[in-house]
Amino acid sequence: MVIMTTSFFSCNNSKSEQYVEKKITPLTNHWEVAIPNQEIPKGLSSLSAVQCGACHQQHYQEWKLSTHANAWTDLQFQAELKKESSPFMCINCHIPLQNQQEYIIKGLINGDIYQPVKEKNPHFDKDLQQEGINCSSCHVRNNVVIGPTGTKKAPHKTVKDTKHLSEQLCISCHNAVAIITPTLACTFQTGDEWKAGPFYGKKNCISCHMEETNREIVAGYGERKSRFHYFAGSGIPKRKGLETKMLNGLEFYPQKVKANYKQNEVFNYTLKLKNENAGHKVPTGDPERFFIIQFELKDAQGEVIAANKYRIGEVWEWYPEAKKLSDNNINPGEERAFNFINELKVKGKYILTIKVTKHRMSEETAKYNKLGSDYPLFISIFEKEYKFSVN
Ligand code: HEC
Ligand code: HEC
Ligand code: HEC
Ligand code: HEC
Ligand code: HEC
Repeated sequence: MVIMTTSFFSCNNSKSEQYVEKKITPLTNHWEVAIPNQEIPKGLSSLSAVQCGACHQQHYQEWKLSTHANAWTDLQFQAELKKESSPFMCINCHIPLQNQQEYIIKGLINGDIYQPVKEKNPHFDKDLQQEGINCSSCHVRNNVVIGPTGTKKAPHKTVKDTKHLSEQLCISCHNAVAIITPTLACTFQTGDEWKAGPFYGKKNCISCHMEETNREIVAGYGERKSRFHYFAGSGIPKRKGLETKMLNGLEFYPQKVKANYKQNEVFNYTLKLKNENAGHKVPTGDPERFFIIQFELKDAQGEVIAANKYRIGEVWEWYPEAKKLSDNNINPGEERAFNFINELKVKGKYILTIKVTKHRMSEETAKYNKLGSDYPLFISIFEKEYKFSVN
């Protein structure tokens, strides 16, 4: 479709009209398009997770604790969405169903992501929007419920599609690389990291993040193969008090510490860690995530006499142009050693403390986005304390 607008150029001697073309360009990337409006599958009366949860009670309770259920209401997401620099397609992985979105995007004027052609969505459902990535986001396509077996026991129309319910579904949102504008880059490469790593062909997103079990999926229907729906990940909750389940990619191999050291001896300590359990880098996904490894040596009075800090994560510069400056994320299977060295000059008693924390974002970013002091920014995943004497 092409819309023509006429503009007259006074400096143009020929007095002829010039046409400035306003082309409506189609959306090209998959994340620019919502999943089309779905009708309620036969046998149900709503697309909402609340309704699915009336029968699938455990799935619902698990999903409620997940980051997926908070992908829309999350304070950080809402803060970012309000910025003028956030384009229309930000919502497509956070509220993926067209039914969750107020507008249908028909295309872009001259390919400009800040000029989407919008049309009111007659099927917009505000309650559904609040649910973020809900059951229907993953399970409803072509107006039917998609499942792993296509069971005839269900009261709703059910179709088997294991290709749809595969890691491809996860990767459709968890892998996107694009420079959207000079200062806006999309970099989720969890899918690519997994494909390049040692778990490819052995374990996938679903086998690690949706652990298998045997249980009733609806009370009274008998046990069957099932998968937990916690979508456990970093474990950093989106709200204070939310009991988000955690996975740990890293295993720690701390070195032993002697009880006694000699004066002027060099204390040389190594903490080894290995990304044993994650099928991708640690951290992965959002470039703002990082880990901090902190060593502190305290004297008998509790005064810190030496400290050392390491950061694992990416560093980006956003202005004037989005650019990755460094990346020391840990590859799957990779082992790394972190050192703390100190010359023990003074006799006495000492305590070495080691802390490893996982961070969603820095305090500066949280402040900048006015997330408030209640917003959980990090969790502690490893703490150790050693006491020793220098004689
Ligand atoms: C009125 C109760 C009820 C409601 C509401 C309900 N389900 Fe079900 N569902 C069932 C029953 C019963 C089964 C079959 C149980 C079994 O196989 O043991 C089932 C099976 C399933 C399966 C497995 C299908 C397969 O291929 O094995 C999926 C997936 C599913 N439901 C998803 C949903 C979703 C998503 C919603 C909400 C949009 C929903 N259900 C709402 C009762 C319900
Ligand atoms: C419709 C897009 C979409 C699909 C499909 C999807 N995810 Fe997500 N996922 C997200 C978004 C968006 C978030 C982050 C929400 C937030 O932080 O507010 C997320 C968060 C997560 C997290 C938690 C990250 C953390 O630690 O906080 C895990 C784990 C995860 N997804 C795994 C999966 C797996 C496994 C699948 C496939 C079964 C999957 N996702 C499918 C969009 C999706
Ligand atoms: C071998 C098991 C395994 C596989 C395969 C795997 N993951 Fe993970 N994933 C983990 C573990 C363990 C963590 C926790 C890492 C940590 O924070 O220590 C994690 C963390 C995450 C997170 C949270 C972000 C973060 O940095 O903690 C997301 C999102 C995620 N995985 C998505 C995926 C997706 C998508 C796939 C498939 C492409 C996938 N994972 C494959 C084990 C796995
Ligand atoms: C991020 C995508 C995603 C979301 C969100 C999601 N599921 Fe699933 N669900 C899956 C996948 C993938 C499978 C199939 C795993 C397999 O192949 O065994 C599955 C399987 C199921 C099954 C079949 C039995 C089982 O436990 O494996 C039921 C029932 C089900 N889901 C219900 C729900 C309900 C109810 C909700 C919302 C409260 C929900 N799902 C949310 C991805 C999702
Ligand atoms: C291709 C799908 C996709 C699109 C498009 C998308 N996101 Fe996300 N978003 C994700 C996934 C996946 C995660 C979770 C990453 C992880 O935990 O590894 C996420 C997480 C987030 C988070 C939480 C970060 C954190 O540390 O927990 C915010 C905020 C966010 N996105 C904002 C945005 C904004 C703003 C846009 C538009 C510029 C956007 N998203 C577009 C997939 C997407």
